[in-house]
Amino acid sequence: MKSRLIFLGGPGAGKGTQAQRLAEKLGIPQVSTGDLLREAAAQGTELGLAAKTFMDKGALVPDKVVVGLVQQRVAQDDCRKGWILDGFPRTLPQAQELDETLKAVGQRLDLVIEVNVPDSVIVKRLTGRRICRGCSAPYHVEFAPAKVADKCDKCGGELYQRADDNEKTVQERLEVYHKQTEPLIGYYRNQGLLKQVDATGPIDGIFRQIEDLVAVGQT
Ligand code: AP5
Ligand code: MG
Repeated sequence: MKSRLIFLGGPGAGKGTQAQRLAEKLGIPQVSTGDLLREAAAQGTELGLAAKTFMDKGALVPDKVVVGLVQQRVAQDDCRKGWILDGFPRTLPQAQELDETLKAVGQRLDLVIEVNVPDSVIVKRLTGRRICRGCSAPYHVEFAPAKVADKCDKCGGELYQRADDNEKTVQERLEVYHKQTEPLIGYYRNQGLLKQVDATGPIDGIFRQIEDLVAVGQT
């Protein structure tokens, strides 16, 4: 089974939605750097509060901080069988650090899934998004509503709107994605690890495409 996976894609492309479903199916953790940083900010740690100043502007948090968080997270017990990285790496130095970290422990990446959506559909996805405070599950007021208004279907947690999900910050995040993260598409294509998924259709159909990609080569 492919069990060391990356979800790459712009803001609001559906990385979290798909990564969470796949993680449940494969029984491995979804490691979202955005969620880790938001948790640290909510706890009021020094790292979290410093990160929040970048996140609220739509800018990237410095590589060193994010790499450290991921290294700590993937070293935990529940990651022994594998993990799905959601939103990491996001710069070439982060990707190179990840390669080094894996090499040092004799592991390798199995697959990078690029979740591809044109910028034109992103603003509506993000301004209508709601997130569970308890488990970070993503919802959408129109496209993926919770069964009971403002309550998470999975854990009953309260739903809220992210501070960076406003039109101005979304535009900034899109720019940052194109400039700093998109070069990773070529980086992973050159390593033969990249698969692309058209993520404009319904959530279930996209998930089926992803399941097929993960199953390829499975024995
Ligand atoms: P992060 O939390 O990773 O935000 P992001 O990359 O901007 O991505 P999103 O979480 O907004 O979108 P998503 O692709 O997960 O979409 P989702 O599934 O929720 O990062 C936030 C910030 O943290 C960054 O800006 C940066 O500051 C910092 N950061 C994080 N990682 C970093 C790193 N590695 N380095 C440096 N800084 C870092 O879906 C979006 C919405 O659309 C939802 O409402 C969902 O219900 C809906 N939806 C999903 N799929 C569909 C569909 N097919 N059709 C209709 N609606 C859909
Ligand atoms: Mg996300």
